[in-house]
Amino acid sequence: MGGRIVVLISGSGSNLQSLIDACAAAQIDGQICAVISNRPGVKGLDRAAAAQIPHQVIDHTTFADRQAFEAALSQTIEQYSPDLIVLAGFMRVLTAQFVGRYLGKLINIHPSLLPKFTGLHTHQRALEENETHQGASVHFVTAELDGGPVIIQDRVEIDANDDASSLAAKVLVKEHQIYPQAVQWFMSGELEFREGTCFLHGKPLDPEGIQVWLHRL
Ligand code: GRF
Repeated sequence: MGGRIVVLISGSGSNLQSLIDACAAAQIDGQICAVISNRPGVKGLDRAAAAQIPHQVIDHTTFADRQAFEAALSQTIEQYSPDLIVLAGFMRVLTAQFVGRYLGKLINIHPSLLPKFTGLHTHQRALEENETHQGASVHFVTAELDGGPVIIQDRVEIDANDDASSLAAKVLVKEHQIYPQAVQWFMSGELEFREGTCFLHGKPLDPEGIQVWLHRL
């Protein structure tokens, strides 16, 4: 049985798929009760349908403003009474008001080693900065864009022949491993968010969270 999860997407939903698969393999003590996309016709919706998960579109372009969109989003989310809301490739900036409603039960995955490269085009920027590594970070969402405390992050080496798409593909592999881990820690009660800090097994985490390459998980 376990916890109730609502997943918000905007596109391909490969992170959604990794969570669907983890739940099906009982690696997550919870169930995805709904998938909501802000864009119609995206592959993530097909993934939800294939997994027989209730799914719908709340198209942000059909609302007068951000507040109206978020009001509709909240109203739909509440219908599922989630324990956790997961942003998985969700590409809308959420207002502080929305975040405040779900603080401590709203997480996101960002394709960089936060706090480096918040915002967009993270892989192109890492290449331009001659970084040796790139990675992905799962974090609690706060009012600061991509600024919340990191739960877990993992990394890959950047090779000389990498471009943004080859790097994205390498990082996605890590994303699909760390997101289910973070969700399971939350579902099992091992992970909490208190006063702006992540606590895992009752101990506060550093701002970069669990850096997988330093641990044997
Ligand atoms: C991923 O790199 C994710 O980190 C970013 O959007 C990309 C696509 O995610 N937020 P998905 O395949 O839609 O889960």
